[in-house]
Amino acid sequence: MRKKLVAGNWKMYGNLVENEQLLSAVIAGLNGLRDAQVAVCVPYPYLPSVQNKLQHTHISWGAQNVSQYEKGAYTGEISASMLNDFGCHYVIVGHSERRTLFGEDNRTVAEKYLAVQRAGITPILCVGETLAQREAGTTEQIIEEQLAAVIDLAGIETLSKAVIAYEPVWAIGTGKTASPQQAQDVHAFIRKKVAVQDIDIAKELTILYGGSVKAGNASELFAMSDIDGGLIGGASLVANDFITICRAVHN
Ligand code: PGA
Repeated sequence: MRKKLVAGNWKMYGNLVENEQLLSAVIAGLNGLRDAQVAVCVPYPYLPSVQNKLQHTHISWGAQNVSQYEKGAYTGEISASMLNDFGCHYVIVGHSERRTLFGEDNRTVAEKYLAVQRAGITPILCVGETLAQREAGTTEQIIEEQLAAVIDLAGIETLSKAVIAYEPVWAIGTGKTASPQQAQDVHAFIRKKVAVQDIDIAKELTILYGGSVKAGNASELFAMSDIDGGLIGGASLVANDFITICRAVHN
């Protein structure tokens, strides 16, 4: 059985007080959901307090970015082994905001993915096309290139310890969700591409959908056969919405 996961991506939101309130509500709301795979990916400075808050719960935590380098004179950067010191289970790599706003190309994303893997942390590798690319009919080509960069550098076998998130760029933070069928088609494509190289890894690969997942649309997305959960931005900051989404994947 493939692992189902709902991961919150807090982006650059929150503060100590708000985080405490949000996590207290989420912990209480998910109580009883014993085998739930739920995670929150938080801004770096809050990792110690989030670790402290979540370490005896069933919720795990992680970061939203990482340096591709192990150590060195890289002012302002954070290495994967540093994230390990704070018990991170996951690191998001290749989020479209990193790709578009901070110039991360496929090669850099692949290096970050490898750095996370080497530190024994699970990367959540984001892939996805822009609206222009979808309209030009190049969605599959773009996704294939994004995947290939990682597989070529890190090896297909590393996908057995990774999560992929399909996040169409046009759906992120826009309120425009991909239809369940649109998302399913791309998820199936990703699984098929991996299966060509390793059928067992493809079967076990957790592929999340991200992009305007809300309490009201999570169930229909998660009902699709190749959608194994979600990467949740805005709705992960609202306790009741996040709880509803987490419950939707485990129903
Ligand atoms: P959104 O963000 O849920 O706010 O659309 C998703 C993401 O960026 O991971």
